[in-house]
Amino acid sequence: KLRGTAKPMIGVLVPSLRNPFFADLMQSMEEHAADRVELIFQAAGDDAIETSIENLVERGINGLVIARTVEKADETFKMLKQRGVAVTVLDQAGDAGLSDVLTTNDYHGGKLVGEFLIRQGHQRIALVIPNVITNNMQQRINGFKDCWVKEGRELVEVTTALSKHGGLAVSGKVAKMQVTAVFTLNDELGIGLSRGLANIGVKVPDEISIIGYDNTDFSEFVTPSLTTVTQPVWQLGQRALDMVIDRLQHPEMALQAEQLDIVRVVERESTRPLR
Ligand code: RIB
Repeated sequence: KLRGTAKPMIGVLVPSLRNPFFADLMQSMEEHAADRVELIFQAAGDDAIETSIENLVERGINGLVIARTVEKADETFKMLKQRGVAVTVLDQAGDAGLSDVLTTNDYHGGKLVGEFLIRQGHQRIALVIPNVITNNMQQRINGFKDCWVKEGRELVEVTTALSKHGGLAVSGKVAKMQVTAVFTLNDELGIGLSRGLANIGVKVPDEISIIGYDNTDFSEFVTPSLTTVTQPVWQLGQRALDMVIDRLQHPEMALQAEQLDIVRVVERESTRPLR
């Protein structure tokens, strides 16, 4: 039963409000909610997730959509269950079995990047990886490597903070790696790297191609526009909201794990074929 007669309150926790991927996600939820539920959006950094969840519970949320990894997952999900809060976790299949989970096909997305770069004739590329790798990003890496390494191509890795600044910070390193292309695990990293390479006079894509991931709305507006992988962010937000409302109305149903499969490469100016 939903508490009282007021509209159910759904908390939505994202890692960052500055990444347009999450802006799209929130916008899709807002539009889809209409006046069925109240939404409270909050950003929780790496060390603040438990506190953010507790605060939202204290504010009386009925449901929670979490778009990031929960470190102390067992105890957190137990507490939420005890407090009668319905939960859907987005993008992090690692939490399957503890809550309802909604993912996109990150493994396939990573594989598509590998196939794309092979078709473009690259032999040695760099993978820009965040310091803290979430489950969905690990899937991207696995899909990419399964394709790339099987083809006997060379790969060098560089880790950095998951942000535009993180991408910018490794541009000097990447420039010395003797690679012809870079796969950054999201668009923010790709755009930061592109800016950093431009700052030191490395031409994208003439000298180094860059492919990101997310197809965030700024990727088509930067110069050069960013080749990337699009995932169904709009459907992701809407389906996550439906799942958490379903759970509110049917608390006893079996845990749900769903995957949205549509991912594809969007080719723009930041990549070029080598031949
Ligand atoms: O850019 C942020 C990333 O976090 C996206 O790729 C999305 O999948 C989310 O998990």
